Formats: sequence, structure tokens, C-alpha cells
Amino acid sequence: MDFALSSEHQMVQHMVREFAQREVSPFIREADRAQQMSAFVLERMAELGILGICFPLRYGGQGMDYISLGLACEELEAVDTSLRVVMSVHVGLNSLGILQWGNEDQKQRFLIPQAKGEKIACFGLSEPGVGSDVANLNCSARRDGDSYILNGEKMWISLATKAHHALVVARTNPDAADPHDGLSAFLVDLSSPGVQRGDIHGKLGVRAGSTGWIAFQEVRVPVENRLGEEGEGFKIAMSCLDNGRYTVAAGATGLIRACLEASVKYATERKAFGREIGKFQLIQQKIAYMVQAYEAARLLYLRAGWMKNQGYRNTKETSLAKWFATDASFQAAAEAVQIHGAYGYSDEYPVERYLRNAKGAVIYEGTSEIHQLMQAGYALGYRQDGDLRCELPAYDPVVWRAEESSPDKG
Ligand code: CAA
Repeated sequence: MDFALSSEHQMVQHMVREFAQREVSPFIREADRAQQMSAFVLERMAELGILGICFPLRYGGQGMDYISLGLACEELEAVDTSLRVVMSVHVGLNSLGILQWGNEDQKQRFLIPQAKGEKIACFGLSEPGVGSDVANLNCSARRDGDSYILNGEKMWISLATKAHHALVVARTNPDAADPHDGLSAFLVDLSSPGVQRGDIHGKLGVRAGSTGWIAFQEVRVPVENRLGEEGEGFKIAMSCLDNGRYTVAAGATGLIRACLEASVKYATERKAFGREIGKFQLIQQKIAYMVQAYEAARLLYLRAGWMKNQGYRNTKETSLAKWFATDASFQAAAEAVQIHGAYGYSDEYPVERYLRNAKGAVIYEGTSEIHQLMQAGYALGYRQDGDLRCELPAYDPVVWRAEESSPDKG
């Protein structure tokens, strides 16, 4: 067992930290106040290769591993959750789904421009009336010759109005005996006729990010844009969530770190009753819990990343990492506000933004309640992870860094 980060991992950490802290941190409070996502963020993330960090070179990526993806997410969310959300949907939920389930033609047409950041991608699963209960979603796709015709609405979609492509899950067989088997996944060009979309305003947090809705009215999607086989949509969605949840776990770990650093700074500067408040045991207890949460959350996401590198199924471990880190980040942010007292209640300090941002992640990509049900299910033996086709391809530096394709790998 080796707990050390490689020099490449440290390089990724350093590069992403520099970008987030130097280039985004100075304007993030204004972007949050304005409830506007800056175009600069996506452009720079593309330029720096962050949007393609863990994809093979021959698919337009940077040839790094899945741990690098986690480390990047930790650094991004240490500055603002909106940055990490980009990674969750563009990389975790969409592009990694194509790497795992796509055929060569789909990788050429969708993955390469996405990994290069030339095209932005989002994930269409949740609907106005369907969140946790994925198997019963309503969006439909009926076969018509060489196409499917897509109808329905997707809701709470990060990057809805920024994205060029969406991975959309829709019902192809309303008569399937088991509703899980009636779903299929599609790669949809969002400039297609019949697509409408808009932003959702008035969110509690992640205000510097983009969240919206997408409506499909008789949208024609070519058969060659179906990801996987007909009926595999539920499994594809769940395996994409294994990757999205990993980025959320890593990001929430960064948010805990940000709460800890802000709290330590404030507690060593602010004085009360004749000494700095960090000398008081009740403040120390809050700081100690943040240290504990950060270290545990980090180990959990790194273990999930290591499993992805090996090509092991990691649904259970990723769910645990996501549940723990997001609950802990919400708790850490609440305590960080408390340590800052009245100042923590205003946006003069970043901790109120951390608290608002932290709340989102205990809801999206599986609520904490869903993850508790999953963990209990594994422990009680009601849930097992069997299907080997549901694993990401194992990371192989030789394959990932080869310019030419090798027939059987990656
Ligand atoms: N990979 C591959 N296959 C999987 C899988 C995975 N991770 N998870 C489950 N499956 C398979 C199962 O093995 C099972 O297959 P078999 O029938 O062959 O055994 C099948 O799928 C059904 O699985 P379940 O019995 O677990 O299905 P369920 O109906 O009980 O649902 C659930 C389980 C945990 C509730 C699931 O529906 C779930 O995770 N819901 C939460 C959805 C969610 O996270 N939504 C977030 C939306 S994305 C978002 O928020 C993005 C954004 O833009 C912010």
C-alpha cells in the first residue's frame, strides 16, 4: 500500500490549484452575487486540459489517471463548487460514460471534442417529477426508421444552456415487464430542431454555476447516437453516476479543506475575551472535527479512484465516499460560519457561500438518503455489484499515452 502521491499527481494538484486560486478566486464572490457563470471558466479549463484530464491522448485527453481527476476536483471545489460541477457533468457523467460504453465512432464524434473542451457536455437524467426513482422516468424515445424521436423534459441539469451535447436517458420500451429494462441512453446534439432549454434562477447555492432545464419535442436522434444497446439505459445511467459521484466526493473533500483553512485563519486572527478565539476549546473542537472529516473523506475518494484505476467495480465505495464527504462538508461549512460569528453570516467572508454550496451536493447525484439505503443494502446482502461490463476501463499509462489506437484496449 502506497499513500504517497506521484510527482504527476502533485503536478496536477499544483496546476489546478494555481488556476482556481489565482484566476477564479478573485472574481468568484462577484460571480456568485451576479448568479452568472463566467464563459472564461470553461475556456480556461479547456485550455489547461482539465476538461480532458483522465482520457487517453488519442481521444483528445491528457493521458492522466482517475486519481488525477479526483485531485483536480478537490482543488477546484476548494475555490468554488461551480468549478467542480463542470467536471461532474462534463467529465464524470458524460465523457466517462462514452469512454466506457461508446463505440469507436461515438468516441471520435463526441468524446474527442469533449475531452479537448471544444464541445461542452451535460447529463439528462432527472425530470420535473422524477429524481431518485430513475427507473420510472417519463422522457420517451420511439423508434422511427434510422432514428429515435425524443419527447419529454429534463430538469436540474447542470450546464443545460452551456452544453453542446447531452447524454439523455429515455424510455424506449414502455411495455417492459421491469421498467429498468425499458430505458436507453442517447448522445444528443443540443442544436437539433425541437430542443429548447433555459436556466433556473433563484438557487440557494452554486450560483456561479449554470443549472437549467431541457425540453425535447419530436427531436430526431440518429440510431448511431444510441449509447449501448436498447434497454441498457438504466445501467448506463448508474455507471455514469459512479463517476459523477466520485467527482462530487472529491470536490466535497476540497470544500471541507476550504472550511478548515478559512476557520483556522479566522480563529488565529480574531480576538475575544483577551485572546485569539482559536485558544478556546469549543472552537478547537470544531476545527478538530473538520480535520477528521477532511482526512477521512480524502481517503475514501482516493480509494474509489484507485479502484477505478484498477478497473474494479466501485459503486459501493464511491457511494460511501460521496455520502460521507457531502454530509461532512455541509457540517464543516455550518461550523465554519459559526466560528466566523456574524461575519460568517455575510459574504464578506467565503464561508456563507461554502454553506449554501454544500447543501446542493447532499441532494444531487443521489441524496444522502439514497446512499444510506445503498450502504444498508450492501451490508444486509440485499444488493450486490456483479455486472463486469459496468466497470470503467482500467487505467493503463501505456495505452492512455499512445497516440495511435490499439485494437483491444482502452
Ligand atoms: N452500474 C451498473 N449497473 C447498475 C448499477 C451501476 N452503478 N447500479 C445498479 N445497476 C443495475 C443493477 O445491478 C440491477 O441490474 P440487474 O437487474 O441485472 O441485477 C439494475 O441496475 C437495477 O438496479 P437496482 O435494483 O439498484 O435499481 P433501483 O431501482 O433499486 O434503484 C437507486 C436504485 C439506488 C434508487 C437508483 O435509482 C439511484 O441511484 N437513484 C438516484 C439517482 C440519482 O443519483 N440521480 C442524480 C441525477 S444526476 C444529477 O443530479 C446531475 C446534475 O446535473 C447535477
